[in-house]
Order: sequence, then C-alpha cells, then structure tokens
Amino acid sequence: MTRSTAAFLALTLSALPALAADLSHQARRGEFVVQTGGCNDCHTPLRLGPNGPEPDLSRMLSGHPETIVLPPPPTLTDAWNNVGSASGTAYAGPWGITYAFNLTPDPETGIGKWREKDFVQAIKTGKHLGVGRPIQPPMPWESYRHLPESDLKAVFAYLKTLPPIRNKVPDYVPPKGK
Ligand code: HEC
Repeated sequence: MTRSTAAFLALTLSALPALAADLSHQARRGEFVVQTGGCNDCHTPLRLGPNGPEPDLSRMLSGHPETIVLPPPPTLTDAWNNVGSASGTAYAGPWGITYAFNLTPDPETGIGKWREKDFVQAIKTGKHLGVGRPIQPPMPWESYRHLPESDLKAVFAYLKTLPPIRNKVPDYVPPKGK
C-alpha cells in the first residue's frame, strides 16, 4: 500500500460515520421544517376519525389519493372564489383545479427519481421540477423559497426517508377558456 492510498483510506474511513450521522441530522432538520411548514396540511389526505377529520398517516405526504375521484367543484363567486376538497388535498379557484403532489419517494408517482437540485429549484422558482409549468396555488412556494438552501436540501433528504407510496395524483386542470 502506498502512502497516499493509506492516507486516502484513512480519510474515507474516518469520513464515513461522520457523514452518516450528518445525514440523519439533516433528515431530522428536514422533518422539523416539514412539520412546522405545514406540508402535511395539504399533502397528507384527511380521513374521518372518531373525533372528526384527521390526517391519514398511513398515507403520509402521498398527495391527493388517486382513489378519490371528485365531481366538478361547486360554482364559485367573486366573494367565495376558492374551495378545498374534504380530503384536504384538492383545490379549485381562479387558477383551475390542483391536486397536492405525492412527496413520497415512489419512483413512478412521487419524487423517487427527482434529484436534490430538481426539488430545490422547484421550490425556488415555482416551476415543476424547476423547469416546467408554473406551480399553482395553494402551494406556498413563494413563502418556502425564502428558506435557506440547506433547509430545502434537508426537506428533500427527509422526504427520501419516507416509505414510498404508489399514488398517481390527477393532473392539474387549468381554468376553462385558458
Ligand atoms: C396550502 C396547501 C399546500 C401546502 C401547505 C404545501 N403544499 Fe406543496 N403543493 C400543493 C398543491 C396543491 C400542489 C400542486 C400544485 C400544482 O399542481 O400546480 C403542490 C405541489 C408541490 C410540489 C410539486 C412541485 C412540482 O415540481 O410539481 C412539491 C415538491 C411540494 N408541493 C412540496 C411541498 C412542501 C415541501 C411543503 C411544505 C414545506 C408543501 N408542499 C406545502 C399544496 C400545498
């Protein structure tokens, strides 16, 4: 073993536990931001419990359930111009109809194939994956984009630790005439 290989190995080995500890610390921070940022309020469906509607934690952060096919929203007026579904995951308003996205790491229907930078850019720019169509209300990306980048990365690290849930959220429906 040459001196430089030995030095490299020593460096790698000593870095490993520190990195792992750092990762779980990062995910814990992400969990805190998710809890205090209210992501569950829109991205976790409600179900009826003994004391009324409660978050269905078996489907935590998996977005609007594909099994809940909604009728068209009620007629809205200038005074009451937006509504939410009973599940707390679908919204209608001047922007059309939006369904909260599946934030679990399922590769086909969630963020499983997203890279950290896709997530960070989505929140910072308000565009799908950071490059696509504008992210519509009521997703409050304009508030979250002020979070330090380290917190956005922490949220992504935390989301990646969730059990992946296969749930294909319906597509965004733009307002009529647009
Ligand atoms: C008030 C409701 C609400 C809250 C709170 C909320 N979201 Fe959302 N979110 C939505 C809706 C609705 C969509 C779908 C918007 C669309 O289709 O244009 C969405 C979409 C997303 C997307 C998909 C973006 C893309 O590229 O398509 C991500 C990622 C996301 N939210 C992350 C979060 C995180 C992380 C939090 C908490 C820090 C959060 N959301 C809090 C309602 C919400």
